[in-house]
Amino acid sequence: MLRIAVLVSGGGTNLQAIIDSIKQGKITNAEIGVVISNKKQAYALERAKQYGIKTAVVSPKDYQSREEFDMALCKTLDSYQVDLIVLAGYLVILPKILIERYPGKIINIHPSLIPAFCGPGFYGLRVHEAVLERGNKITGATVHFVDEGTDTGPIILQKAVPVYEQDTPETLQKRVMEEAEWTILPEAIDLIANNRLRIDKNKVYAGE
Ligand code: GRF
Repeated sequence: MLRIAVLVSGGGTNLQAIIDSIKQGKITNAEIGVVISNKKQAYALERAKQYGIKTAVVSPKDYQSREEFDMALCKTLDSYQVDLIVLAGYLVILPKILIERYPGKIINIHPSLIPAFCGPGFYGLRVHEAVLERGNKITGATVHFVDEGTDTGPIILQKAVPVYEQDTPETLQKRVMEEAEWTILPEAIDLIANNRLRIDKNKVYAGE
């Protein structure tokens, strides 16, 4: 059984998609061991509690330095003995020590088709604003492994969605979440939980 830590900062709709997929049997061989937020007020924490999932808050505000926060986050994760860390709308840059400690065991959902509209500064609504400014006709979401760069790790799954002329950043964000993120994040977790991924030279292959 794969034990997952889900790291969140906000509403937690991706967390909800993971919870629902486990309940519905779309994700097998996996359980959520803990949900960790950098924000005490994150609604994602309430979602976790409703299902009896353990939660923890590790906020940079509670530590004097970034190093102390990094250590606290590592300690918290280690204490739950997780096999996979899922970044589901987690808006903190991950500590290098954490990435080194969990090689190939951290995944992220990004709301664009990487390598478009990704990297430093591309998060939340800004991604969708940039897509609309550029006049793209399609966008989408990407699940990828996390390495030391920003949105540079091996790509696991991607799904495209259309961009419409009347879209606002908000309507586009909603479509990307509903039609792409909530589908491919659970799918990627299921693939990992069932040992169906192989990585070769920065490329990910999914198979039986
Ligand atoms: C999603 O758009 C995700 O791609 C981005 O942050 C948002 C998180 O939403 N990184 P939620 O907290 O899962 O509702």
